[in-house]
Amino acid sequence: YHVDWDPASAEKGGFSSFMEKEIHDQPDAVAQTLLGRSDLNGKLTLDELRIDPALLKQVDKIIVLACGTAAYAGMVAKYAIENWCRIPTEVELAHEFRYRDPIVDANTLVVSISQSGETMDTLMAVRYAREQGAKTISICNTNGSTIPRESDAVLYTHAGPEIAVASTKAFLAQITAAYLLGLYLAQLRGNIFSGQIKDVLADLGKIPAKIQKILDNAGPLRELARSMKDEKSVLFLGRHVGFPVALEGALKLKEIAYIHAEGFAAGELKHGPIALIDEGQPVFVVVPSPRGRDSLHSKVVSNIQEVRARGARTLVIAEEGDESVRDYAEHVFYVPETPTLLMPLLTTVPLQIFAAELAGAKGYDVDQPRNLAKSVTVE
Ligand code: AGP
Repeated sequence: YHVDWDPASAEKGGFSSFMEKEIHDQPDAVAQTLLGRSDLNGKLTLDELRIDPALLKQVDKIIVLACGTAAYAGMVAKYAIENWCRIPTEVELAHEFRYRDPIVDANTLVVSISQSGETMDTLMAVRYAREQGAKTISICNTNGSTIPRESDAVLYTHAGPEIAVASTKAFLAQITAAYLLGLYLAQLRGNIFSGQIKDVLADLGKIPAKIQKILDNAGPLRELARSMKDEKSVLFLGRHVGFPVALEGALKLKEIAYIHAEGFAAGELKHGPIALIDEGQPVFVVVPSPRGRDSLHSKVVSNIQEVRARGARTLVIAEEGDESVRDYAEHVFYVPETPTLLMPLLTTVPLQIFAAELAGAKGYDVDQPRNLAKSVTVE
């Protein structure tokens, strides 16, 4: 008599790795992070912040501090916060911030983002900002960890424990929490109409089912990933909120598949990176919604043409119904429709799946890549 499972695989819920499990946890991670944070009238209720709303109204600058994937969540947050709140927002790697004598005062709101809440670089940056009199809010996935304890307020992401070194569900939960914070600030300051906030919340509420749809239809993407296991280099292009998504796609591939990968702002191509494009070079392109700003979409479509004309293999992530990319794409992977600002919650998912599948095909330990620790508690 024997049982053909062991406790380790039971914990992975039947998936081949924690990373795969956590990629599949994402509909839930986003749903849980949204839960209980708005009322039926579409009003944000972030009382848990316990920070005087009058202080938040005075904020004239926001600085988002984080490292790695969390910093890419911060870049996404910048687009949303500036759009909704009209408050100048900077995003900086925490380790860079500390060493440059930054301009921070009592009207600066510092938002740190950290899955673990223990990243030393981020913690030291938050401490520094606090010493300068800034208000500090932590977006964090780990209850009672150091960064939230040392911040004025915390907005927890409810992604559940993330075991794999490569961050996936925490990233989507961080973006979700940052959107909520942005909407809350906009509500407090009266920047946008309550109807608009309600609409964004409704769109956010539809995200979990849309992620599920991407997960359920990932067969062709997985097949492509396996066929590319011997690639030496993969490039990722994106514009606007697609830019941090490109950076994140590249980081995932470096981290777990040990393949040289770079993410670029698509507009930078002609300022240098296009020289890298050669016959057969794989390039992922993250395309914004064609229903959003016209110029944004068409610019990215011409970027696909440019790299294609130089021999690149174009692997395109686009919105369902966007036929304009087909002629220039070797493969198109569609994600469901959503407003441009929210697209990273969808467009990131295929890139995570691609990296996990490819690293698995190479026979690597997807959850514990070489040289890396889950939380970097040293400087
Ligand atoms: C993500 O895949 C990485 N392992 C890493 O970049 C991570 O996001 C970074 O070290 C920050 O960690 P934190 O969110 O726990 O602060």
